[in-house]
This record gives sequence, C-alpha cells and structure tokens, in this order.
Amino acid sequence: MSAAGGKPISRAPESVEGGDSKDGAAEPPREALERAGELREVLDYHARRYYVLDDPEIGDEEYDRLLDELRELESRHPQLLTDDSPSRRVGGAPVDRLEKVEHLEPMLSLGNVRTEAELRAWVERMRNHLAREGIAEPRFTFVVEPKIDGLAISLVYRDGVLERGATRGDGQIGEDVTHNLRTIGAIPLHVSDAPPLVEVRGEVYMSLADFTALNERRAEAGESTFMNPRNSAAGTIRQLDPADAAKRPLSIWCYQVGVADGLSFKSHSQALEWLREHGFRVNSGIQLLGSEDEVISQCLEWERRRGALDFEIDGVVVKVDDLELQRRLGAVGRDPRWAVAWKFPPTTALTTLEKVMWNVGKFGDLRPYAVLEPVSVGGVTIRLATLHNEEDIVRKDIRAGEEVIVVRAGDVIPQVVSPAPHVVEREDRPPPPAPPARCPYCHTETFKPVDSVFTKCPNRDCPARSWQLLKHFVSRGAMDIEGLGERQVAMLQERGLVTTAGDFYRLGEEQLVGLEGFGEISARNLLAAIEASKERPFGRVLFALGIEEVGEVTGRNLAQRFRDIDALLTATPERISETPGVGEKMAEAIAGQLADERMQRLIEDLRGLGLRFHEEGAPPSEGPLAGKTLVLTGSLPEWSREAATERVTAAGGRVVGSVSKKTDYVVAGESPGSKLAKAERLGVPVLDEAGLRALLSG
Ligand code: IVH
Repeated sequence: MSAAGGKPISRAPESVEGGDSKDGAAEPPREALERAGELREVLDYHARRYYVLDDPEIGDEEYDRLLDELRELESRHPQLLTDDSPSRRVGGAPVDRLEKVEHLEPMLSLGNVRTEAELRAWVERMRNHLAREGIAEPRFTFVVEPKIDGLAISLVYRDGVLERGATRGDGQIGEDVTHNLRTIGAIPLHVSDAPPLVEVRGEVYMSLADFTALNERRAEAGESTFMNPRNSAAGTIRQLDPADAAKRPLSIWCYQVGVADGLSFKSHSQALEWLREHGFRVNSGIQLLGSEDEVISQCLEWERRRGALDFEIDGVVVKVDDLELQRRLGAVGRDPRWAVAWKFPPTTALTTLEKVMWNVGKFGDLRPYAVLEPVSVGGVTIRLATLHNEEDIVRKDIRAGEEVIVVRAGDVIPQVVSPAPHVVEREDRPPPPAPPARCPYCHTETFKPVDSVFTKCPNRDCPARSWQLLKHFVSRGAMDIEGLGERQVAMLQERGLVTTAGDFYRLGEEQLVGLEGFGEISARNLLAAIEASKERPFGRVLFALGIEEVGEVTGRNLAQRFRDIDALLTATPERISETPGVGEKMAEAIAGQLADERMQRLIEDLRGLGLRFHEEGAPPSEGPLAGKTLVLTGSLPEWSREAATERVTAAGGRVVGSVSKKTDYVVAGESPGSKLAKAERLGVPVLDEAGLRALLSG
C-alpha cells in the first residue's frame, strides 16, 4: 500500500540514521524509525481514502489507534517528528495574529457571464484577441468546473512538504492560515514525487450538511449562527487557534496548479490530473468539452444539479484548456481572458416576514419558524424558513411584519438572515416576537429553563411533542419503518390508534384498512414493516427511544458498552461516562432520563413486544475470535466484506484496515492487494475464506 502510488513516505531525516542527532538526544532505534514511517504511510493512505476519495476502508477507531501509536512514538523520539506528520494535523499552537504573506504569483479573479449570448461573446472576444496575436482559427477545448462558493486558498509545497497555506486576500497579499489548513483532512501535508516547489490552489468550503449541523449546535449553545456555508468556512479559516478550526469540518476542492518548479503541463486538464494523482481532491464532475454548445449545456446541467449537491456552488467556471493559449490570451486587470464564471441567480431574496409560528420539539422546546410572503429564491418558491430559537431572533433583530433577507442554500432549510437594511432605521418598528405564554398545541403554560435557549412546553402528553417522538421512533436511523412518514404518524395519532411507540406494534389490519391511503395490501405491508423493525439492533432501539443527547452513534456506543438494557438501567452516571463520546454532564442527563418512570414503562412495553434490548453476538472478550485482529483483502468468493466483518465481530474479533505485526490473520480473497505481500513479509498467517469459516466455527 502506498499513499500516492509513489515512493514510500518514510522521510525520516537521514542524519538520524547517521547518528548526527540534534540536541544530543538518543537516536531513535531503527525499528521506531521504520514503524513511524510505516504509520505515516498508512495514516496518509487512510486519510486520503476518507477525505479525498470518500471511500474509507477503516473506521475512526482504527484510524485513531494508529494515530495514537504514531504520537506515542514521536513523543518518545522527538527527532522522528516531521512537519508533514499526520500527527501534526491537530494540536498545533495558536497564533497571535494572521501574518500577511505575498503570493508567489497573483491570484486572479474572474469575469462573469449570465447568459448564453454572453458566453458566446466571451469566446468571440478570445478569437479576436488571438487573431490580433497572429493565431487565426484557434481550436478551443474548454474545461468546465463547478464554481465552489467557499474561500480561495493557496498551498505551497516545498520538496513535497506543505510549507504555507494562505487566503487569497487581495490577490497579491493574503493571510497565512497554515495552522488551520493543516486541520483539514483533505489537504495533503506532503506530496510524494513532488517537484522542489509547487503551489496548489483551491476552494475551501463547508458541506451543507456540516453547515446545518454547525448552525444548529451554535444556536443551541446560544451562539450566533452563520449566514451561509461560505461565511462559516471563512470564519473558521481565520481563527487564531487551530483547535477551534479543527472542531468545524472543512474540505477543499482543488482547481489549479500555480507556480510549479520542475513540472510542466501542456494543458489545464493535465494539471488537474496531476493533482488527482498526487492526492489532491479534484471534483469528478469536471469535464473537458470541445464546443461552445457543449459548454452551455453543461453550465445549464450544473445549474439543474445545483440543489442536489452537498456543497454550494454559485456558478460554473469555464477555462481554456491549452496552457499556451492561456498564456497568449493573458489578463485584463485581474480577470484572465482565458476563463470566465457563468454565474447562477443569487440564493438570497427580500420578502416580508408575515408571522412567527412555533413548533414543539421532541423534548418540549418551542422552535420558531417564519411564515413568509412567498418569494422565489434561486428558482424555488419559499413560504417557510427556520429561525433557530428565540435568542437568535433577538440577536438578529428580526421582527414580524417587516421585510427580511432570506437565504436558501442547496437543499438546506431556508433561513431568515436579517431584517432588510432599510427597515432597521425606522422608529416605529414592531416589537420583537416573543415565545407564546401557552403551548400553541396543548395550551399548557410554557416556561424557560435557565440553561436553555428554548422556552418549553412542560406537558409530556402534549400531542405535538408526542408526534415528534413517534416520528423520531419510526425514522430512518432509528426503527426505520417503511411506510410510516410524518403524515401517517399524525393520522394514527389523531385517530387515537397510536399514543406511545409500543402502540405501533399493536396495530391490526382492521384498524388500518380504510384509513386514508390504506387498502388491504398497503396495510399488510405496513404491518410487515413494523414487525420487521423488531430486528433492529439494540443500539438503534436506544436511539429510537428519544433520550435527549443520545444520537445514533451514542446509541450504538452505549449498546456496545453495556450490551444489555438492564446493565444500562442500573449503571451509575460514572459508568455511563466511560462510553466513548459521553461526557460527565451528558452521562448525568442520560441516567436521569433512564430513571424516569415513563421511560421505564416504555422500555418494558417495547421489551415485552419483542424489540431487541441486548446486543447480539459474542462480546469482544468471548467467542472463537476473541481479541483477534484480522485484515481482509481482495474479494471473498461468497461473503461480502460487510458479511465477513459482521461474522468476525460477532465472534469477538476485530476487522481492521491495515496489516501490522500485531495482525493475527490476513484473510485473502481474489486479487488481493499489497496487504497480502505485507502479511507475508511480516510473517502474519494468511487464510482464505474456507480458513476463516473454520476459525469461526471454533
Ligand atoms: S479559477 C483565473 N476555478 O472563484 C482563475 N476559481 O471569482 C481564477 N472559484 O477567487 C480562479 N471555484 O475563489 C477557479 N473551479 C474554480 C473555482 C474558482 C471557485 C472561486 C475562487 C476565485 C473566484 C473567482
């Protein structure tokens, strides 16, 4: 296995081997040197699989184990530490301020076109310019790329090591943000087979899913929310403390090779290929096209796909592929003649906020949302938008009855960002919207806990609150009951057929048939889906119960740790806090909710109905493969990788992604990779699928 298909990455300083160690410290033994190199190679490889190729081979836990091993080695032998070690991604020192840095070559911007005619006119201008240069009838090939709405940055690699990363700034001078860029897993810290100097340019961005999650977290913590993914990426990259940046997931799409000493490309597409081959993240939707017509239809295609992407694009960039033509075309001011941005309509709009309404969440929290005068944003009509929580409304100074700015990015729920600039100067502004004194659904008096940004409805029988809990119970990551969406849940609730989660399992065909949307067949199908959900593993059941703070991952971790509901129910908060990802406060909250009588009744009811309240399979300390570590390579004749992993785990073993001396067995299928060779080199026993079966049967 080699990180980028090139030379091994163990770039330990040769002087260490030669005995010329700095500061007179003891030389690291050869074994440590080799292991550190090996670990870096493996970690880089997996970081690339995860962040760049979106196709991880190992889980977080295994990755962290390898990283811990490397950290431990490096702390024992500080001479081993290199600038580009994967251990350097997090934990860097904060900076006092962002230093200004001059770019090796100016970072240009782009002229815009908005219509087909403008695009054709751009090509015409290039033809005319080249004709004046003596190049008649140039044959253009174009590269069409998404225009990522993030933050342009430049990465300078010297001798293959990331030396400096900077923001674009004014194009000449940017700010040094190396400390934060290092925390981005998709940015290689070193490049194999690199020339002495190469500058890579790209756009750092936050995915829409991460952006939404970040805003929700911030809103709940009473912090200000970001207006859009670009602002949150920019805010993150300009942090002084890399630990803060590391907490916010950013990624990058690379789109250009800047200065390159010792590399020469004929075309832009060749440069992109070089980037791809050297571990940089290059969008796979980039196309090389031969005609203006194709370029136009591709721009329209990106515009159509815009809402389905996981990141924001505000247009398409069209570039002339041939670098010699690019050079001949040159730039006018800051805009190159050889590239242009096809801009999409904006994602923000101005409209009137008619009123603020309040939803009730799973735990009784009143969540405000905006009812808007319908407005079209980027081709979609918006009527509703989120307002996060009451404190965010106040912070943003949003009032009902006024004009507001709304933003809709991709598939993310539209947000109200701020009042329109002109309204804030008025003197006769309406008062800020306040949460209702009584729950809009059950009319119980509401209250605001001191430690919450939400006013709450205290009524645990509030139908709106129950609806949220029931909806959550049947949802995808939880019991995943097909055929039960929010409408069906509401209908069953309104008819009095379902009040608590257990009621789903008591439904009969006769109750369903005749309800809106249910005939005999669909009723039977639904009942079968409900029955099938009894097979969901314990971790999912824990998640489905609707315990505050217990998400999908925590549900699974609790299940793995306690293995059985009784063990969890009797566990102290201290024991609960030993679960990965569970802090002390969270453990207290979980224990408190589990001790609640209503929760216990729910658990008893569901247990009686046959849901899983214990972990299947052998615990890690039992079973024929207890404590054994296996690596799978190549395709097995009968079992899929998942099936094999499941069986090994059920037998108490662990499947990891890379071979080391500590690996107990390598299971090799057809066309095994370099893992097999490595196993043979290290003397690790190699089995085929039959051998694995034999092991499993003890
Ligand atoms: S090329 C001359 N390619 O757009 C080349 N830029 O408006 C200039 N951007 O500052 C950059 N995606 O921040 C290029 N695929 C892409 C891009 C891209 C986003 C941004 C970049 C640049 C701005 C120019």
